[in-house]
Amino acid sequence: MYARIVGTGSYLPEQIVTNDDLAKRIETSDEWIASRTGIRQRHIAQPEQLTSDLALIAIERALESAGVAREEIDLLIVATTTPDNIFPSTACLLQERLGVHGFPAFDMQAVCAGFIYALATANAMIKSGAAQCAVIVGAEKLSNLINWEDRATCVLFGDGAGAVVLKASDEPGILHTQLHADGRYSGILKAEGRVTQGAIDGSPWIYMEGNAVFKFAVRALADVAEQTLAAAGLAKSDIDWLVPHQANLRIIEATAKHLHLPMEQVIVTVDKHGNTSAASIPLALDEGVKSGRIRPGQTLLLEGIGGGFAWGSVLLKY
Ligand code: UT7
Repeated sequence: MYARIVGTGSYLPEQIVTNDDLAKRIETSDEWIASRTGIRQRHIAQPEQLTSDLALIAIERALESAGVAREEIDLLIVATTTPDNIFPSTACLLQERLGVHGFPAFDMQAVCAGFIYALATANAMIKSGAAQCAVIVGAEKLSNLINWEDRATCVLFGDGAGAVVLKASDEPGILHTQLHADGRYSGILKAEGRVTQGAIDGSPWIYMEGNAVFKFAVRALADVAEQTLAAAGLAKSDIDWLVPHQANLRIIEATAKHLHLPMEQVIVTVDKHGNTSAASIPLALDEGVKSGRIRPGQTLLLEGIGGGFAWGSVLLKY
């Protein structure tokens, strides 16, 4: 029994903020941002749009592309660092908005690795017989956590949502999943504000030690790719597409180089979306599928890493 992706969908808010737009407000330039990160623009949600608004559209599009009715869903996992509320979970809010209920629905908090964690969890539940038809959505309104005065972070992030429908199948789908975390690195990427007695205690903004994160990410993503291929008994040359977390083009290029993959076999969206955390991998996957590059039967390696640190990969036959 396998879990197979049978549909993908995504949504990006309409408002596009270019590097030049940011350069009008803070001391930065298109040249600096593009050369250090590969980012040229990002989508930013309207103040009244919540994470669940972005997620709902991505889910509806994924269900439509799968030809699956919402009544068939028996598991919903939302990977997000920016839930609508402290509680109930964004997954429960989405279940209500989808008009279907009773099945398990929960949020997954693993920051930029959230979609990988959610996909691995859904895969395990499908393989155990606990679910037959899962919807996994990565959705973020990261603009809520961005200090627009901090040029070291505000140029990096964007909002968006991407979803997949995962079904139990006899045909190969997800081949192997690999998850890791190392809490010793929790201090180099964080948004540590907490609500205490009605007030925000600590900083509510994203804080990142960019260099340290960069080095950790390059090494961890190379290692997890090796481990995943070894566990699945596949070679680097068996990969048709790398669908990586979209944080920085230079990190993506380093991972591709390690896998001996030309950039033509890598889905890159960071230039248009920026870093959308848990949404970035499903957004890239949907773009790869909708553009006709990713085709049925191909072998995909999905990889993500972020705050925690948490990281992992999913190797699958599409
Ligand atoms: O999704 C989770 C994973 N996150 C990541 O993977 C992000 C990983 N890190 C990175 O992508 C990079 O470290 C950054 C893009 C964040 C930063 O690039 P960098 O090459 O590591 O630059 P830096 O932080 O070492 O800063 C270099 C210089 C500094 O000036 P000085 O001290 O050399 O005078 C910064 O103040 O660039 C300056 N700087 C900027 N200049 C123009 C920092 N941000 C900006 C900016 N515009 N936006």
